[in-house]
Amino acid sequence: MAVPLPWAWFDGDFRPLAEVRISPLDRGFLFGDSVYEVIPVFGGRVFLADAHLDRLDRSLAALRIRNPHARTAWHDIIAGLVSRNGGGSLAVYLQVTRGADAGRDHAFPDDGLAPTVFGMATPVPDPHPDRHGIRAITRPDDRWNLCEIKATALLANVLARQAAREAGAGEALLLRDGLLTEASASSVLVVEGGTVLRPPPAPAILPGTTSDAVLAILTALGIPRRDEPVSEARLRAADEIWIAAATRGVVPVLELDGRPVGSGQPGPVWARAAAAFEKLKDAGGR
Ligand SMILES: Cc1ncc(COP(=O)(O)O)c(C=O)c1O
Repeated sequence: MAVPLPWAWFDGDFRPLAEVRISPLDRGFLFGDSVYEVIPVFGGRVFLADAHLDRLDRSLAALRIRNPHARTAWHDIIAGLVSRNGGGSLAVYLQVTRGADAGRDHAFPDDGLAPTVFGMATPVPDPHPDRHGIRAITRPDDRWNLCEIKATALLANVLARQAAREAGAGEALLLRDGLLTEASASSVLVVEGGTVLRPPPAPAILPGTTSDAVLAILTALGIPRRDEPVSEARLRAADEIWIAAATRGVVPVLELDGRPVGSGQPGPVWARAAAAFEKLKDAGGR
């Protein structure tokens, strides 16, 4: 597991991570009343920052948490975490909680609280070792119905990912009512007869910044793609399955529940999309 780098953002300033202290009355701690983003940085260049900050805006608005910073201030916080921690390839983690209340009450005060903002940076390997492909398992999607909000209350995701790890797999793909939603910490794309399918946007699915970038690449490459529900049967019969997430990029799934996906090797459509995605990273896609 990668260890976070020494410089963090907390309470309006850059500070050593080791000195950050959060109140036990913070609603993020008591209720998971908080949202987050993980923004990738490749070779010192922040990748798709505005797409992440747009999603942060939407998550905060959905939970009626005041956005404590203007867009330019968020960019400065991200840039400061990158430079203070020495650049390179990083995951910048940003978390905003509703704030610390005077006591513990499920309902929040009408006049709001001062949100708690925390940021840190963790090194990520680039190129990522998962680019050679991973094994995955399927799990029931036990999460709540508002997964479009990137909330830190992630217990069902934690248990699904742990089940994957204990099965020797790198990800758990989630099935709800017989349909693929996404994975414990990534979006899922499926290739069927040369067409790339992604489950359509829905409250039960987090809109992925990486899968959005991959879909734009497919369009540019002239590879057919559609937003379409993917049943469990279609998932299991797919020619290729990919997962997509900020710090992993786009990764082929070679085996699902112990059976090979397609040929059991990274597929030809993935190879084209992944090569173009690497170029976008090198160009410092915004
Ligand atoms: C549940 C879930 N879905 C999808 C994603 C992919 O989102 P992104 O590509 O923006 O990292 C993540 C990333 O953390 C996630 O946790």
